[in-house]
Amino acid sequence: MRLLRNKSLKEYNSFGIDVKAKNFISITSENELKQTIRKVYASELFILGGGSNMLLTKDLDKTVVHVNLKGKEILEEDDASVLVCVKSGENWHQFILWCLENNFGGLENLSLIPGNVGSAPIQNIGAYGVELKDSFVSCEALNVQTLETTVFSKEECCFGYRNSVFKNELKNRFVITSVTFRLTKKEHQLHTGYGAIQSELVGIENPGIRDVSNAVIKIRQEKLPDPKEIGNSGSFFKNPIISVEEFEAIKIKHSELPSYPANEGHVKIPAGWLIDQAGFKGYRKGDAGVHEKQALVLVNYGNASGAEILDLAEKIRGKINSEYGISLEFEVNIF
Ligand code: EPU
Repeated sequence: MRLLRNKSLKEYNSFGIDVKAKNFISITSENELKQTIRKVYASELFILGGGSNMLLTKDLDKTVVHVNLKGKEILEEDDASVLVCVKSGENWHQFILWCLENNFGGLENLSLIPGNVGSAPIQNIGAYGVELKDSFVSCEALNVQTLETTVFSKEECCFGYRNSVFKNELKNRFVITSVTFRLTKKEHQLHTGYGAIQSELVGIENPGIRDVSNAVIKIRQEKLPDPKEIGNSGSFFKNPIISVEEFEAIKIKHSELPSYPANEGHVKIPAGWLIDQAGFKGYRKGDAGVHEKQALVLVNYGNASGAEILDLAEKIRGKINSEYGISLEFEVNIF
């Protein structure tokens, strides 16, 4: 555990934005985490996980604590299922590969999502018809004020679409240290309802969790940029959820507007479609751009600043608002 000063965060955020942290410390045990937090004012603390869902727009005049807790443990198992506890600093996709090697099912649709295990519950990551909450049992988190550890049940996490209590009432108040999942060992429930997955599985007799994972990996690789090659944070915007009345009103002018069912009286609109229609797909200004295959993803072609990416996001938001009267919300956290 060594405190570094003026450390560049370029390698620590998937957008690849080159800003500096006043102080930087990587912790590898809960004890180190407690020791560090004890010494830093809550307002000075910046908790960093995989850095895959953030846009850094300026140098951080803070102590950045890189949570690098590692380990996976089987807590309990029977014939049908297993309870696995994973430390928050484990890479999400590596964890899924480990699940597949052990024939543990439930998370395969979430293959290749960038980031670490500890950030996954914060925004209840989801893809191809599955969300983290479907296999989630609990998580352990350290209160940054009292340094006590609390276990949060699924109910207490208040999961929603890309949302949880950790993005709302408890924002910045806890550091997630581990997550526990209930996974299946046999009779896996495959989620293949998503059209693109079905097409990938054609010709495979009795597909299993590995086939679903491979299908997801293939689809993602075709549509989404790899952050190691082009900086990005996945979907930059959430798919907006609007009332059926609003939807009908917009459809008078835009009859082709697509929608998906949402909670009662509401529909979900694909933001990627709106941005695409507004002509931004493949748009580029300097090194900031909109991905050419998926308009929901903003990209850094090399040396864009966070402010340039944010400018582009605001420009897109303004255009969608004036054209459709729909207000897009950022999925990515801005700092
Ligand atoms: N669409 C366009 N143009 C585009 C992109 C999308 O017209 O450039 C249309 C598609 O044709 C489709 C609809 O929009 O009809 C939905 O697109 P897609 O199925 O690609 O999914 P999405 O709504 O764009 C969401 C998640 C992704 C997740 C996929 C698959 C959000 C904000 N995004 O994207 O999550 O991988 O579904 O389940 O909910 C992420 O959160 O970082 C992420 C990548």
